[in-house]
Amino acid sequence: MISPTEEFLSPRLKAVHDMAVGGLDDLTSRRIIDVGSDHGHLALYSLINDNFSSSVLTDIHEAPAKRSEQTLRMYGFADRTKVYCTDGLDGVELKMGDIVVMAGLGGNNMIDILKRVVEREEPELLRSIVWCLQPQKSSDKLRQFLFETGFDIVDENACEDRGFYYVMMKVMYTGVPSEFTLKQKYYGPVILRRIAAGEPQVLGYKERLDMRFELSKRGDEEIRRMLEEV
Ligand SMILES: C[S@@+](CC[C@H](N)C(=O)[O-])C[C@H]1O[C@@H](n2cnc3c(N)ncnc32)[C@H](O)[C@@H]1O
Repeated sequence: MISPTEEFLSPRLKAVHDMAVGGLDDLTSRRIIDVGSDHGHLALYSLINDNFSSSVLTDIHEAPAKRSEQTLRMYGFADRTKVYCTDGLDGVELKMGDIVVMAGLGGNNMIDILKRVVEREEPELLRSIVWCLQPQKSSDKLRQFLFETGFDIVDENACEDRGFYYVMMKVMYTGVPSEFTLKQKYYGPVILRRIAAGEPQVLGYKERLDMRFELSKRGDEEIRRMLEEV
């Protein structure tokens, strides 16, 4: 059996984990919920290294849900874990202070999942939940949804893993929609501040985004306007 310590998670998933739990000091009283758990490694790592009392894992497909269950059982955490084969958080009872991670899913998929949660849950519960989102694509659409629905992006970062850049964000629900610029939608409000501060990992990410936006500006009027914003 591999020991779920430092190198157990990929650099991307480790960065997501660190952002999810960063700045929180009462982890033993909270649950970690991993949506799209696949192998179950994130929850396993968190149970061992952060002392979470329990965890919830969900996956829309049966095979990864079974894989998650097996991983947690193999390491002796079956009694502190619940695995659901479900779409997003459908059928999962959320609790005050839950930390919900969604990593490796598309931004549009995350929007659908979050929309259903916002519709069904009380604002007080929603305001207590910490969300850590690492969209594989459509991070701009996800940010627009977050701004318009009343989620604050409290942290955001980028990491490089095997030649690819990934963006991740920590968000909290306020219920108060916020205004946003196109630059904030496409680059991310906190990423822009990190770029201004010259943080190396975001400068590499910015370079990739610059190239992508330069290529798409001819066919995309909004991206053209975004690049003209000061
Ligand atoms: C690319 S894997 C990412 C696994 C892991 N979270 C990571 O970041 O390494 C995506 C996983 O999310 C699951 N998934 C996709 N859409 C989902 C949804 N709406 N609800 C729950 N799971 C979903 C897939 O079945 C798959 O196991």
